[in-house]
Amino acid sequence: MTVRDVLADPTGPRRSTLAVVPTPAAVGAEVLDVDLRSIDDAIFAEVYRAWLDHSVLLFRDQQLSDADLIAFSRRFGALDLAPIQENGRRFVEGHPEIYVVSNVIENGVAIGSLGAGEAVWHTDMSYLPDPPKASALYALEVPRAGGDTSFCTMYGAWDALPDDLRARALTLRVKHDGTYNSGGYVRAGVTPTDDPRAAPGTFHPLVCVHPETSRRHLYLGRRRNAWLEGLPLDESNALLDRIWEAATADALTWRHQWRPGDLVLWDNRCVMHRRDAFNPGSRRIMHRTQIKG
Ligand code: SIN
Repeated sequence: MTVRDVLADPTGPRRSTLAVVPTPAAVGAEVLDVDLRSIDDAIFAEVYRAWLDHSVLLFRDQQLSDADLIAFSRRFGALDLAPIQENGRRFVEGHPEIYVVSNVIENGVAIGSLGAGEAVWHTDMSYLPDPPKASALYALEVPRAGGDTSFCTMYGAWDALPDDLRARALTLRVKHDGTYNSGGYVRAGVTPTDDPRAAPGTFHPLVCVHPETSRRHLYLGRRRNAWLEGLPLDESNALLDRIWEAATADALTWRHQWRPGDLVLWDNRCVMHRRDAFNPGSRRIMHRTQIKG
């Protein structure tokens, strides 16, 4: 399926005010009947508010060029450059802000990152000192089955944490690993190590206060090669395992099944995401922007 297939039967007129329908899950909402190429400042203010309220927004049936995706993303703030992919390529030619997530191989070269396997729970680029505050992922081609993306609320994760873990978590910083991406691939230019103390990465507080909503949330980043600063590895791993189990419970997550033309925008500060594997023989092409914090 391509964007063109889905849009062959266009829907009716677009709304002039925003209709936001929360998902039945703990996080996320769908915004109905909006064309992201042409929203005015008043509607954009509503989109921004809805994004802060729901952490993840889904916009169906979009027809975005790469320039449109960049223009919409820039309304939230300046853009980061795409992270370096495992194969050393990192962006759409002429658009260094657009990271390609794809399993497609052209002329023997992968056009994007992450292949067709599972991408484990993570926060985009949290191995950096200033990770993006938001990511926008736009579906160009998707398989008929598989490749769903799930989101997990880190506000809910904080709320769900047992009291003893909360007290402990408030005192800790966690190292977010920069060795592996969420597909398990080693990042370009990195010598792999599975000792989190030696691995490249950045320490962030395990519990943060969201700068715009003032709500407290966990900030876990990714599990592989994580390390709680100053703790012996065994103790760090045991504590992290307990925290991760509570933080990624099904009750805190929403799973999105993609259609071409879907744009999903998430608050990278207070949600994590993961992706299901899909049939490597099918094509999945997604373009992603990252908005600076
Ligand atoms: C990502 O981690 O940004 C990619 C998620 C996906 O492929 O659905």
